[in-house]
Amino acid sequence: MSDEWWRDAVFYEIYVRSFADSGGDGLGDVTGIRARLPYLRELGVDALWLTPFYPSPDADHGYDVADYVDVDPRFGTLADVDALVAEAHELGLRVTIDLVPNHTSDRHRWFAEHPEYYVWTEEPNNWPSHFGGPAWTFDAARGRHYLHLFAPEQPDLDWHVPAVEDEFDAILRFWLDRGVDGFRIDVGHVLYKDPELRDEQEPFPETPFADWRRAVDRPELHPLYRRWRALADSYPGERMFVGEVVLSDPRRIARYVRPDELHLCFNFTFLYEEWDADRLRATIDGTLAALAEVGATSSWVLENHDVTRLATRYGSLRAARAAALLLLALPGAAFLYAGQELGLGEVELPDEARRDPIFRRTGGERIGRDGCRVPLPWSGDAPPFGFTTGEPWLPQPAGWSGLTAEAQAGDPASTLELYRAALAFRPRGGGLDWRASPPGTLVFERGELLCLVNVSAPALDLPEGELVLASEPGVTTVLPPETAAWLRRPVPSYDRGRSARP
Ligand code: NOJ
Repeated sequence: MSDEWWRDAVFYEIYVRSFADSGGDGLGDVTGIRARLPYLRELGVDALWLTPFYPSPDADHGYDVADYVDVDPRFGTLADVDALVAEAHELGLRVTIDLVPNHTSDRHRWFAEHPEYYVWTEEPNNWPSHFGGPAWTFDAARGRHYLHLFAPEQPDLDWHVPAVEDEFDAILRFWLDRGVDGFRIDVGHVLYKDPELRDEQEPFPETPFADWRRAVDRPELHPLYRRWRALADSYPGERMFVGEVVLSDPRRIARYVRPDELHLCFNFTFLYEEWDADRLRATIDGTLAALAEVGATSSWVLENHDVTRLATRYGSLRAARAAALLLLALPGAAFLYAGQELGLGEVELPDEARRDPIFRRTGGERIGRDGCRVPLPWSGDAPPFGFTTGEPWLPQPAGWSGLTAEAQAGDPASTLELYRAALAFRPRGGGLDWRASPPGTLVFERGELLCLVNVSAPALDLPEGELVLASEPGVTTVLPPETAAWLRRPVPSYDRGRSARP
């Protein structure tokens, strides 16, 4: 019997090198995570997603994997990961890990021993790299160009080669045998490329979404994901896949989340949406409608290790806190990114401290993703805030002293306690019913909870009902702009029976 635990689970993304350092080298590690499992249990999340901890030369901070079935000594050992999985399971936390199947490191032994696993050409087309510049690099030894949709140190595998599929079956089995509960699939929409390597149409649009790329989102992906699903389903315990499928059209995403394919796909339209009630509602509705058609569930996300922290993106911590109550009231799975629960903002780093390859490769033209990857502040009044006994790999701002987990714990007005309470009261199961509400606001029912979000209206009166949670202290009868609340029904006076606004 399947319990489909992933359908409304809350996942917590751990950017491993920035979470907690046990060894004093300034890089987070697996033992550091183990020591913080009670914190995660108390926070109330259901599952963890660990970013890559495999041996890697670090051209893209672990997303250039040199060995898929080992642990980088800087992060620990296989035995440490086994212990982490066992201890997490004891606490009722599932553990999912990052699978990076589109590309390897150029130092993976396959690149030397199996060049036929990769995509080569004598005549490069016009494809751009996500990290700036062309997606092709000339390999003088082989007299041909190899493809890399990301950094030159991340050559793309040729998934049309059957041996590549077999290699990854073995990798999946290796980790499933060790007891992991699932995988997050890195850039899960791009594995197979147009075999004719035709040019993309120029000019290339400025968008994080790949809808415009003709070379990706190909039909060959679906048999592969059916194969992976069948493989995972042959293991006990409902193992799962969440796809990083960076498409903006929810109907295209819906083709991946099927009972025999991926369990979940991140919802990036929600993440990239402005803090605007109409736009958020349109995204929520579009997603729910497209996924309902295939019986799938959405996974809502507002932060990860690639995007500007929410409080900075929305312009205020107050808006980010309101958004937390929106995120955690939506039906389906939700993903939090470590530090989101502390209300951390994007860190402005000096150029010399920046480490992201995007910054280096674009000559500073694109600022990169370091600002959301700064190591977490756990305790104390000054850097390194209990993260390490050494020097954190990215510098932490001194101004974080009031934002440490220690400083926030037990303070009912803190963002940490807001997340803890929201995770404790979060509705599960069932759908969402919109209620009529003034412009600039979002109001919907989830079972016995009514979720009210005032994005930008002058004020939103709270109807009758028991106030379960408010995003700001002091809210009693009226929600000011950039606040949200959860009320417990029955709510007799609030627009009951009226249909949602058009
Ligand atoms: C998506 C990951 O989230 C990002 O950090 C990485 O740089 C690219 N995929 C390439 O693996």
